[in-house]
Amino acid sequence: MTEIGFGIDIGGSGIKGAPVDLVAGKLATKRVRIPTPQPSTPQAVAETVKDVVSEFFGSQCPSSLGITMPCVVHDGVTRSAANIDPAWVNHRARDTFSETLGTEVVVLNDADAAALAELHYGAAQNHQGLIILTTLGTGIGSAMIYNGVLIPNAELGHIEIDSRHGEDWAAARVRVEESLSWPDYAQRLQRYYSTLEFLFSPDLFIVGGGVSKDADQFLPLLTLETPILPALLRNQAGIIGAAWQGRESLAARS
Ligand code: BGC
Repeated sequence: MTEIGFGIDIGGSGIKGAPVDLVAGKLATKRVRIPTPQPSTPQAVAETVKDVVSEFFGSQCPSSLGITMPCVVHDGVTRSAANIDPAWVNHRARDTFSETLGTEVVVLNDADAAALAELHYGAAQNHQGLIILTTLGTGIGSAMIYNGVLIPNAELGHIEIDSRHGEDWAAARVRVEESLSWPDYAQRLQRYYSTLEFLFSPDLFIVGGGVSKDADQFLPLLTLETPILPALLRNQAGIIGAAWQGRESLAARS
């Protein structure tokens, strides 16, 4: 049995989308990626999302569609814009996408989507208690799941650590920009995760984002009370979680 949804993951540099097999929790076909337009204004991004969708469906739209944004998303409205055009702050994102695509969509934070994917199909399956997922990429995305329920819009990438802005100090982008060795980067992650551990006493950390493919370079260097696992769905988690939430929202509407 298969059930196909469709997910779109919007990032500062690329907009990626694919049909998702929601029974298996994996992409049903190869994904399409189009560079994020610059400036990444709402209308320009929505047109690019339409181009991604039309690669699969022509002018028809899938019946359920989930879209992630690198922003706080509250009831279809984007409330922040850390790595995307500031025009998204307080923008009615759901309306813009629905009008451009001609169909109902659900919009959610990118790290929240990744957490939903890991919860249903990946590293968070069968774990209880408080799970904190972080995505280390251009910024630091974060999501909290408590006993299988997502608490949306945790913005733990913006906590201050030793008077520094967490994501500007410990995101994967910074490791590359500052040419940090893995041990040097791991020291920053040690401070970052110890701070989260002190503040939240989680039961499990999951590390996602592109850097999770190199987890063996830095996870063994961390000393934490809390178990810490690499994400299983890697950079597909956003698309898969978006599609999952799209299907849930469609079911709730019908
Ligand atoms: C944003 C988050 C987002 C994360 C990853 C942060 O700068 O504030 O909302 O989840 O980047 O894209």
